Amino acid sequence: MINYNNIIAKKIGEATGIDITELSQYIEIPPQREMGDFAFPCFKLAKQLKKSPVIIANDIKEKITTDEYIEKIEVKSGYLNFYVNTSKLAEEVLKEIDKQKENYGKSDIGKGKNIIVEYSSPNIAKPFHIGHLRTTLIGNALYRVYKFLGYNTVGINHLGDYGTQFGKMIEAYKLWSDEYDLEDDPINKMMDMYVRINELCKQDEKVLDACRENFRLLENGDKYCTDLWERFKDLSLKEFYKIYDLLDVKFDSLNGEAFYSDKMEEVVDILEKKGKLVESEGAKIVDLEDQGINTPCIIKKADGSSIYATRDLAAILYRARTYDFDKCLYVVAYEQNLHFKQVFAVAKYLVDEKYHKGLTHVSYGMVALPTGRMSTRLGNVVKIEELLKETINRANEIITEKNQDLEDKDEVAKKVGLAAIIFNTLSTTTNKDQIFDWDTALNFQGETGPYIQYTYVRTKSVQDKSEISPSIDEVDFSLLKEETAVKTIKTLYNFSEILLNTAEKNEPSILARYLIELSQNYNNFYNENKLLVDDEKLKNARIALNNSVGSVLKTGAGLLGIKMPNKM
Ligand code: ARG
Repeated sequence: MINYNNIIAKKIGEATGIDITELSQYIEIPPQREMGDFAFPCFKLAKQLKKSPVIIANDIKEKITTDEYIEKIEVKSGYLNFYVNTSKLAEEVLKEIDKQKENYGKSDIGKGKNIIVEYSSPNIAKPFHIGHLRTTLIGNALYRVYKFLGYNTVGINHLGDYGTQFGKMIEAYKLWSDEYDLEDDPINKMMDMYVRINELCKQDEKVLDACRENFRLLENGDKYCTDLWERFKDLSLKEFYKIYDLLDVKFDSLNGEAFYSDKMEEVVDILEKKGKLVESEGAKIVDLEDQGINTPCIIKKADGSSIYATRDLAAILYRARTYDFDKCLYVVAYEQNLHFKQVFAVAKYLVDEKYHKGLTHVSYGMVALPTGRMSTRLGNVVKIEELLKETINRANEIITEKNQDLEDKDEVAKKVGLAAIIFNTLSTTTNKDQIFDWDTALNFQGETGPYIQYTYVRTKSVQDKSEISPSIDEVDFSLLKEETAVKTIKTLYNFSEILLNTAEKNEPSILARYLIELSQNYNNFYNENKLLVDDEKLKNARIALNNSVGSVLKTGAGLLGIKMPNKM
């Protein structure tokens, strides 16, 4: 597809002799069209060329010319402002979308590169909380975007399925299994058992010893203990998959912490051989002071047992060998910032520079829970499955109010309710805290998932009512000249850049906000112009734009994990 950045950079490159890649980085998109469609800030070259920005701008302007894509070039206070030929722009963009359809924006930039996205990673026998929902949605979006950009992408759910707490769970089961029917609401029951056994351990040292023994047996592959552990895991996964299936989230691997239980010795060996392991109060640690981290990383506790970090280190070693990753993303809450700092610092001694450089913590903020009508609570833990269902119910009420006899209402409500949650989660900058509120998330006119769906449905209904499907070759693109139309087309043009940015910054909110911008621009165009006019030619052009918007909205939303209804 046409690339204005290249066209402009090339012109300036020819005029100045400066490298095009460098120049293209400086090109900006001004906020208002009066300042051009693209602008080049000449102060960026002032040092190099030893001239004032104004003089540079005028010098360059003298040497370059307009063409079929750029119809006007102006100098304004040290900036070169470029105005595109809008009908050429419309033609290039709309034809490309028509040709590529749902593949518009796709790229092979990631070809031959391996990306691991580790996300969700809840803990067995513990609730799937709202933070886990956030990593699930962020990870799912990143996974889809990277795939779309041609990366070989591996999604890993690093289950928290290991640790001394399972020794306690086994003891609790031995004591009270006949009191709990684990087939019904297993996670809450297991939580109950866990709280209860912890209490008992505090009162009775002998029980604690029994728990420790259970864990030892589990580690050594004892059948009874392993079977029970499997059962806890199966019961938990069954619950987690209710959420994953609802959200259509998939993983390529469920290798969690336990998977690495027999792979930790090697970590210890390597660190030992490299002389990085030191004794401290009986424990084995790696000092990280020289890497600017004050807290050392514990590798083995005084009692010889491994910890969470050791398993993460074993995972890095394993993933480097198995997946030869270029990047390994960890979508994990910012409470674990220090943990990942330490683990990555130790990893420097374990794996090649290439892998070490690829380790990336995608750190996300807290989510404030809804208050009020949430029924099932355990402490302050909201049951996520119920949160999703409640949202779907609310969506259903709103839809019913708007459109009594909508077909497939339940299906639509599901899409709309989930879109509300997904968009609300993803539109917040990843590392920022976030508040969940139903009224905001479900507002059809706000900056929400349902608003994007509503806009999409509007494009669909225009398309249906138009009763024509003009061939793109018959469209007269010069008819799309209203400011709102041009703005919409320019937004469509930006789609691939937005996707690249989303991946580069690991920030789905960039794509989320883009979809709002595209929706708003289209709706402005729609509100100011009748689309289904009598003039056949004008109608064709406007329908072509309408259809392109629908197509890109659907693709973009799909990458975030949002599904589009055809009616709502
Ligand atoms: N299971 C952990 C939790 O729920 C998250 C695991 C994050 N991933 C990792 N590789 N440490 O808090």
